[in-house]
Amino acid sequence: MFKTKATEILGIEHPIICGGMMWVSEANLVAAVSEAGGMGILASMMFPQKEKLREEIRKVKSQTQKPFGLNINLFPALRPPNNAELIDVAIEEGVRAIETSGRSPEEYVKQIKDGGVKLIHKCARVRDAQTAERLGVDIVVIVGFECGGAPPMDDITTVIQVPLAVDAVNIPVLAGGGVGDGRGFLAALSLGASGVVMGTRFMATKECQIHPNVKQALTQAQATDTVPVLRSLKSMERVLKNDLSLRVVEMENKGTTLAELIPLITGEKSLSAWESGDVDKGLIGCGQVIGLISEVKSVREVIDGIVGEARSILEHLCTLTR
Ligand SMILES: Cc1cc2nc3c(=O)[nH]c(=O)nc-3n(C[C@H](O)[C@H](O)[C@H](O)COP(=O)(O)O)c2cc1C
Repeated sequence: MFKTKATEILGIEHPIICGGMMWVSEANLVAAVSEAGGMGILASMMFPQKEKLREEIRKVKSQTQKPFGLNINLFPALRPPNNAELIDVAIEEGVRAIETSGRSPEEYVKQIKDGGVKLIHKCARVRDAQTAERLGVDIVVIVGFECGGAPPMDDITTVIQVPLAVDAVNIPVLAGGGVGDGRGFLAALSLGASGVVMGTRFMATKECQIHPNVKQALTQAQATDTVPVLRSLKSMERVLKNDLSLRVVEMENKGTTLAELIPLITGEKSLSAWESGDVDKGLIGCGQVIGLISEVKSVREVIDGIVGEARSILEHLCTLTR
């Protein structure tokens, strides 16, 4: 029903992509999203050694024959030195798409394209979408301020970012940030997007392997229960509001140094929160769309629900013009 340039390029049924998520996007979730007709994207940062990544990719392939992708986060502080190796593994294993983010993918465009892999670049500024198009990227994702992960530093929301990006480039644009149901999905298509990238909604699914306490926290939270942190480091992330994230913001507002912040924001600290399910112990990434999520569903229920709801809304909207 919702065939777009993105479904055509990626060879998928529905233009619904689960963006790569650190701590979250492992084989079971990725395979479930692809199997339900969307596209799941593995987070390479969770499998930084190439043989571990190969193992995880093969785990996805054992659960689905449908296309899936690999996220390569190029943000300098996070960037592992072996991205080229990880991309080679993706090419060798027949991964359909690579989703880059964090900075320009220029260094890797040739390798990815020569390997026959589609390149999706996720960015938070329209000018970065234009650069991506110039570099030969196939599809660009533009995220808005409400998103989980890294929101735009200039606080522009999805409803503004998407049409600006659509007007600025000729390649397909996917909308990221704030989409969790058929209403958001159809709104994104109405803004000119060729599909959506969702993260937070897929965290609260049965197939997602994160701790049940994290899923429970997400389903109970309100739209006001997130906060952007690390703006002062120009590495902003939207996370669940808890004592720790509020303390980080308070310290940033007082002009604290990176050295003082580091003990609060290390990967180990976050890992321990994700693993133990003690959601007050670490920074738990999620978007404002938590305000629309009240139930842990299966991935298929989420995707079929979105497509079905969007179709009904569309039919209803048509009656308004008669
Ligand atoms: C916990 C979490 C971790 C994320 N990690 C990454 C990442 O490693 N690389 C990346 O490109 N995007 C990452 N993202 C962003 C998502 O891929 C996606 O763009 C975003 O979640 C969309 O916004 P939404 O959460 O409002 O749906 C992350 C998001 C979340 C919630």
